[in-house]
Parts: sequence; C-alpha cells; structure tokens
Amino acid sequence: MTEQPSNRGSRRVSTSDDIEVGTYLEIAQADRTTGSKPPVDDRMQTVVIMDFGSQYSRLIARRIRELNTYCEILPHDAGSEILETQDVIGIILSGGPNSVYESGAPMAPSWVYEAGVPLLGICYGMQLIAHQLGGTVEPGTQREYGHAVIHKDGQDNVLFEGLDTEVPVWMSHGDRIEELPPGFRAMAYSENSPIAVMGDDKGTCFGIQFHPEVAHTPQGVEILRNFISGVCKGSGDWTPANFVSDAIDRIKERVGEGKVICALSGGVDSTVVAALIHKAIGDRLTCIFVDNGLMRKGEADRVQNVFASQLGVNLVFVDGTERFLRALKGVSDPEIKRKTIGQEFIEIFEEVAADIGEVDYLAQGTLYPDVIESVSADSNASHKIKTHHNVGGLPEHMNLKLVEPLRYLFKDEVRQAGIELGLSSQSVNRQPFPGPGLAIRIMGDVNYEKLEILRNVDWIVIDEIKADGLYEKLWQSFAVLTNTQTVGVMGDQRTYQYVVAIRAVTSADAMTADWARLPYETLGRISSRIVNEVAEVNRVVLDITSKPPGTIEWE
Ligand code: XMP
Repeated sequence: MTEQPSNRGSRRVSTSDDIEVGTYLEIAQADRTTGSKPPVDDRMQTVVIMDFGSQYSRLIARRIRELNTYCEILPHDAGSEILETQDVIGIILSGGPNSVYESGAPMAPSWVYEAGVPLLGICYGMQLIAHQLGGTVEPGTQREYGHAVIHKDGQDNVLFEGLDTEVPVWMSHGDRIEELPPGFRAMAYSENSPIAVMGDDKGTCFGIQFHPEVAHTPQGVEILRNFISGVCKGSGDWTPANFVSDAIDRIKERVGEGKVICALSGGVDSTVVAALIHKAIGDRLTCIFVDNGLMRKGEADRVQNVFASQLGVNLVFVDGTERFLRALKGVSDPEIKRKTIGQEFIEIFEEVAADIGEVDYLAQGTLYPDVIESVSADSNASHKIKTHHNVGGLPEHMNLKLVEPLRYLFKDEVRQAGIELGLSSQSVNRQPFPGPGLAIRIMGDVNYEKLEILRNVDWIVIDEIKADGLYEKLWQSFAVLTNTQTVGVMGDQRTYQYVVAIRAVTSADAMTADWARLPYETLGRISSRIVNEVAEVNRVVLDITSKPPGTIEWE
C-alpha cells in the first residue's frame, strides 16, 4: 500500500499502481498552480460521477438530475479540473465489471479522496473505497445477483433516514468486503454480504453494495436524496427555470458581440437551441432552414411559422427540394442517399452563410448523452461534435466556433427547457425524425411522387396515433414505403399498388427499441384510412421487429 501526502484532506490513499498515483498528483498540482479559477458565482453545485464502466452510470446521472441536482459523469481516470470549474458538493464512484484486487483494475485518482467532499461508492465503487483506504476485498463464495434484502444495524444513519429497517435492493456483485478500512463501520448486511453498507465516523464517506439507481431498488431514490441533501447539503435548485437562465448567461458570455448561425431541422434540439440563443442575443442570431423536400407533410410551413411568426427569429428559408431530388435521382443505396443529402445540405448551408456575411459561431444541439458517449469512447476526448448529417462535416474553412447550450442536458431536460422558454408542447414533444428524412423511409430510389405518397400515408399514421393518445408514449411511429407492389381489389377493379409498413416503437434512447403493441382498433383505423385515402397504396403491413436485431429505420 502506498501512502500519499495530501494537502486537501487527511485520507490515506492506495492505488494498485504507484506510477498512476504520481501522475494523479502531478495533474492535481498542475491544476492548482496553473488553473485560472472562475468567479465562484459561475460555478454550479455539482455531483461528480466517476465512471468505472458500469452499465448504470448514466442511470445514476438521470436519478441525480431528477433530484434537481446538476451532475457530470467523468471517466474514472479524469483529472481534478472539475474542482476548479464547478462547485463540487459530492463524488459518486460508480459500479464496474472489474475486481479491485486484479492487476490493472481501474482505481479512483487520489484527488477524489483529497477533495474534502462527501463520497459515495456504489458496488465496485464501494469496494474501491474499501481497497484504497486500507480495507480488504475478496471474491465472495457466492455471486449475489438480483433481488436481496438488506437489514440496517439499528443505529441512526443519515443515508437511510426515513427508510424501514429492512430495505429491498438490487445486487450485482461477486466480490465482497472482508475487512473495513480504518475509521469505517458496517451499517447494514444482506444474506450474502455481511457488509452491505459501510460509512466512516465523520459521516461523509459511504459505500453501498447494491444499486440505488435501478427501479428494482424501490427506495433507491430516497437513499440518493439522503446522500445529496443530507450529506452533501445540496440545495436542489437545478430546475428548468434555473438552467434556462444559466444557459442564457453562458451564451451571452461566450458569444459577446459575435454573430451566430443555427441550422434548424424542425426537431426539438435545434428548436430549443435557437429559442435559447435568440433569448440571449436577439437579432445577432440567424437561423437557416433548408427544406430538402424530404420532410413530412406541412413540416416546412410549421417551422417557418414557429420561428418567423411566433418567435420573431431572423430566418433564412431555402426551398432546396429540386436540388435534393436532382441529386438523389436514381440513388437507391441508403449510404449513398445519406451522403448525397449531407453534401447537398453543406453546399446550400455554405452559400447561405456567405450571403449572411460575417458570422462567428455555429450553434449546435449537442446533448449530454452525446458528450458522455464521446468521452467514454475515448477518455482523452473532451469535446466531440455531434455527427448529425445536417451539421456534421461542415468545412473547416468556414472557421466557425461552436455554441452548444444543451451540452449539459438530457433530452427530457431539453423538453422542459423548451416549455420554460414558452415553446408549445407540439414543438417540444415531437418524436425524433431522421436528418435524411423520408428518403430513408422510401426503399429504393426516391422521387417526388413517392414522397407525396409517403407524406399522405405518414399523415394518417400520426393523425390516428395522436387521436388515440399514443403519440407521446411512443418513441417513434411512422410509415415506410416498401417499394413493393401487390395485387388488390377495389370495387370491381383489380389494383396493383404499393405496400406500406407501419413501424411503431417504444424506446428510452434509440439504442434498443421494442415494437409497440398498438391496439388492434388503432391499427385497423390506420389501415382502412390509408387504403381508402391514398390511392397508390393497396396493402398495409406491420413491422414487429425489435432493435436489435432490427433497426428502427428501414433505410
Ligand atoms: P436506427 O434506425 O439506427 O435509428 O435504429 C436510431 C434513431 O436514430 C434516428 N436516425 C437519425 N437521426 N440523422 C438523425 O438525426 C440520421 O441520419 C438518422 N438516422 C437514424 C432514427 O430515426 C432513430 O430514432
């Protein structure tokens, strides 16, 4: 075990690798000497989640945000910069797949223990605290996976305030703590974990063997709440009104007297970005909306109406339908379709930007999950541009700096921000729509006639889904023009027309999705309206594939 001098706290920290300790300390010291500290007012109360590779790290972040507390997920080997840029009130060490005693297992950097802020270790995080502060962790005789009940030891304990003596929890671990680190006591046990909860004498450092963030631990949110408000003394003021006013201040500070352009897609992210920036800098924002002719029925009019008429934003509207359709003529390969659409967009965007004149910034709707993804994919990457077809790959020579006011928010927080900004529920609760639009929902080549057929079909699908109150319960619901024609009969006439497929899915983040069990009545109405109202379609089928193995879009 290696002892490290500390100038922030009094904990004795061990890591499995001395070189790493040295590096952490160098980083921490460099931060202290070279970092320029922003004024304290700028800093948000923040809970830091150190990610040790748990599938649940994001869920921990979601739960904490739901407790109106700002949090950030950092890779497990992150430096201590966050201590300078934010008001860190607590640190959570996540779970992870490793065993702390394995060589090369990820350790928490020493600044985490030296920061002098409350600590909560979850599962692997708890074992790390035990291991790094001088206890012992060993393989358990039995893996504990699934439902368990923990029994409190009877003493008062701030983490479990308001909870019963027996608490149902979700466990997922193979190792267990055999010996507590000095200054710690056991606070609860389960059948397979004699030390299921531990805490130190000062009441600021805790470890819990179970997962409070998952729904299978029904009182888990209470435990997290107790940690944040009872131990970290968090004020719980990360509310929509506060994050909107905070974002507006940050935009003003970043942009100064500069000019910003923002590409609108019609989706919630770019809509909220534009509304926020408009509120912050007014007429120095110009939005660009390119109608690529691949939108849903009425969509281009709706965007124009919301931005130009309702919000009073400077809007450059470009009807690019002909250009896009010309470029797409005869293209049936989905990847080539995407590339063609992307290239055409960039060309138009550049032309419009040149007409607008001097511009300094490009606004983007990067969300927090995009930021986390880029960080976990490459722990050195602190900043990655969302590769949305609309704006990804804008030529470097345009030399635009980025403004990304949503990069701290989860999707539902973006929606709340939109409502706070006065946008209608229709604008903020829209289902996602892919950048390449209906082009990837038409199998084979795309032309104006097929687009019109699909627009009419899509309109009926959404109309019926909304009429039955299902729209906001579904991640997406839409129609696909299959490019297959079949025989039908209409009156006395034999018909030979298109088959369309209905695709409706539920999902939390589009990474996985389940096909939605739509009521037969809704499906029946959708089907009969389509074949009656859209003459070019004589058959409707339902896609009952989940993702994986299917994707949401057909392409
Ligand atoms: P898949 O089909 O891969 O789609 O299961 C996952 C989610 O991403 C959307 N999607 C896109 N969104 N630009 C976008 O902005 C795109 O090029 C794009 N392609 C797919 C899709 O609608 C689904 O929600």
